[in-house]
Amino acid sequence: MEKEKFYITTPIYYPSDKLHIGHSYCTVATDTMARYKRMRGYDVKFLTGSDEHGQKIERIAKQNGISPKEYVDGIVKWIKELWKTMDISYDYYIRTTDEKHIKAVQKIFKKLYDNGDIYKSEYEGWYCTPCETFYTQTQLDKDGKCPDCHREVEKLKEESYFFRLSKYQDRIIEHIESNPDFIQPPSRKNEMINNFLKPGLEDLCVSRTSFKWGIPVEFDPKHVVYVWVDALSNYISALGYGSDDDSDFKKYWPADVHVVGKEIVRFHTIIWPAMLMALDLPLPKKIFGHGWLVINGGKMSKSIGNVVDPKILVDKYGVDSIRYFLLREIAFGQDGNFTNEALINRINSDLANDLGNLISRTEGMIEKYFNSKLPAEQVKNPLDDEIIEIAYQTALRVEENMDKMLFSNALVEIWNFIRRLNKYIDETTPWVMAKDESKKAELADVMYTLAEGLRIIAVLISPAMPNTPNEIYSRLSIDDESLKQWDSAKKFGMLKREVKINKGNVIFPRIDIKKELEELEASLKLNESPENPEKKAEPNKQEIEFKDFEKLEMKIGEVIECEKIKKSKKLLKSQIKIGDETRQIVSGIADYYSPEEMKGKKVVVVTNLKPVKLCGELSQGMILAAQDKDGSLKIITADGEIGNGAEVR
Ligand code: MSP
Repeated sequence: MEKEKFYITTPIYYPSDKLHIGHSYCTVATDTMARYKRMRGYDVKFLTGSDEHGQKIERIAKQNGISPKEYVDGIVKWIKELWKTMDISYDYYIRTTDEKHIKAVQKIFKKLYDNGDIYKSEYEGWYCTPCETFYTQTQLDKDGKCPDCHREVEKLKEESYFFRLSKYQDRIIEHIESNPDFIQPPSRKNEMINNFLKPGLEDLCVSRTSFKWGIPVEFDPKHVVYVWVDALSNYISALGYGSDDDSDFKKYWPADVHVVGKEIVRFHTIIWPAMLMALDLPLPKKIFGHGWLVINGGKMSKSIGNVVDPKILVDKYGVDSIRYFLLREIAFGQDGNFTNEALINRINSDLANDLGNLISRTEGMIEKYFNSKLPAEQVKNPLDDEIIEIAYQTALRVEENMDKMLFSNALVEIWNFIRRLNKYIDETTPWVMAKDESKKAELADVMYTLAEGLRIIAVLISPAMPNTPNEIYSRLSIDDESLKQWDSAKKFGMLKREVKINKGNVIFPRIDIKKELEELEASLKLNESPENPEKKAEPNKQEIEFKDFEKLEMKIGEVIECEKIKKSKKLLKSQIKIGDETRQIVSGIADYYSPEEMKGKKVVVVTNLKPVKLCGELSQGMILAAQDKDGSLKIITADGEIGNGAEVR
C-alpha cells in the first residue's frame, strides 16, 4: 500500500546574520513532528531553507566588502552546520537564490500579471536616504523618523507592481471560517479575522526599483520581486512547481502544515492563500503559529542584542537536553521565557533525576542481582498489570498530543510514566527481594518490567530526542528494529525476557547549578573586573604566535545605551552599535564610569568571545580597558574619528 504523504515546512530564515535559539526552537519543533510522522509510517517531506534577498542583506554585504551571494553563502553554510548539530532531519533545503526557485518566482509573477492579479502603479512611502529604505507610516519610530538610524525621512514615490490582495478578502474569510483547523492555535484565527481581514485588505506592493538584490521581474527588469512573493513561493518552488520535474509538487502539495512564528501568521494565512487562489492552486491544510522565546519578557533579537547562541548551548549541555528543554518548557503556541537557570533546572530534575536515574538504577540492579542477564524464569509481580496499562495509555495520550503538535503535553505524559516506574522500584523494593533466594524469579520480573518500560520510553521520546533512544537500546542490547517502531510502544512484552544489559556511563550528568553560575562569575572577574589588579598586571604571560593573536576579533563600537545592573555593584550593561548590529555587553566598570559617561563613547570591543551570562544578563563580548597598579581603570578608545564597526588590529 502506498504511504500517506505528509509535507511540513519551517519558515525560510533570513541569513542576514547567524541564527539564534529562537530560530532553532521553531526548527526543532518542526523536526520533531517530521520524525513523529515518519515513525507513524508517513512519507514525509520536511522543508527548511533561507530567504536570501532584500535590501538589508545587500547593505550588510556591502559593509563587509563582499557580494550579497558571497555573504549569504557563508551564513547558509553556518546554518546547515547548526541544523546538523541540532539533529534536524530536513529532506530539502531551499535557498531563494537557487536557480530553480528564481525561475519559479518569475513564472508565478508573470502568471499573476497575465491574469490581471498584478498591476503596475506607484508606491508612496517614507524614504530614509542614508539607509536607502522605504517605510510605511506605522513602521516609523515614535518621532516619525527612520526606525533604524532615527534620522529624518522624506515622502517619496516609486513605481511598483501591486498584487490585488483586496480581491481575495471575502474568499479568505470564508476559507478560514469554514476550516477551523486552518489556523492553529485557534486564538490566532480571531486575531486574523478581526484585526486584519474585517478592517479590509489593501493591495500589496510586490516589486521594488530602489535596490538590486532580488529576483528581477522578467518582463520589466528594473524591478525586483519584493519580499513575500519571493519568500512564500519557496514552499512550492522547492517541490519543483514551474519546472520540468514537478513530480514532488504533484505528490506533496498542498502542505499539511506550515510551522511559523506568530509574527508571520498573517502573511501565511492571508497573503499566501490569496496568491495560491490567484494561481488556482490548493491551499495548505494548516498554519501553526508558535509563540516566541523571550528573554526577560522581551523578544530575543539581534538588534536588541540579547540573543542566545544555540551552538554554545548544545556544546555545553548536549543536543537532546536542549531539544527536550525547548519542547517541554514552552507550550507550543505560547510564548515562553528562556533562562539558563530554567534550562539547568529542567536538565537536573527531568533528565538527570527522573530518566537518568531510572536508567542507571535499572542497569545497576540487573548487573548486581543477575550478573547483567535476566533469567527466563520470572514470576509476575501484582503491580505489573497496572504498569502495563499505564504504558499503553501513555502511548495513546502521547499520540493524541503529538497529532495536535502539543509537544510539551506529550512529554509530560512520558515523564509521568518515567516517574511511575521510579515509584514502582520503591514499591517493589528489589533490594529486599534480592536477599531472599526464593524471590529470584519475582525479582527478575520486576527488572524485566523496568527494562521493557524503558524500551517503550525510548520509542516514545525518539521524535523529540533522537540520540537518547539509541543509548537506551544499546544498554538493553536491543538490535531488532521492530522493537524500535512506534507501534511497538503499544505492545508491552515485546522485549525478550532474558534481557542482557551493557552498562554505560551516566547519560545525563547532574549540573551543579551554583558552580555553573559561579564559573560565569569567575569569567567576569578574570576578564572584566579584576579583584586583584596587581596580579592581573603581571607581565608573565606566555609568548604567543601572531596566528594566535589573529584569532581575536576586535572592532570599534559606539555605546548607544548604558545602565547599571540592579543586582550588582560593579556591572554596567551597555548596548553597543558595532557596524550594523547592536550587542549587549556587561562590564565590571561601574566603579569607574557612570552610565552617562559611557553613552556616546567609541570603545574597542572583542567581538568573538563566547557570550556569557553575568548576573542573569547576556554579555556578547568585552569592552577593552586598561588598569594600572593602583587599580584605576580607563576605557580604551580610538585616537580620533573612526567609523563604527572598524576592525582593530
Ligand atoms: N524570512 C522570513 C520568513 C519567510 S517564510 C516564507 C522571516 N525570517 S526570520 O529569520 O526572521 O525568521 C522568523 C522565524 O524564526 C519566526 O517566524 C520564528 O519561527 C523564528 N523565530 C525568530 N525569533 C524567534 C524567537 N525569539 N522565538 C521563537 N521563534 C523565533 O521572518
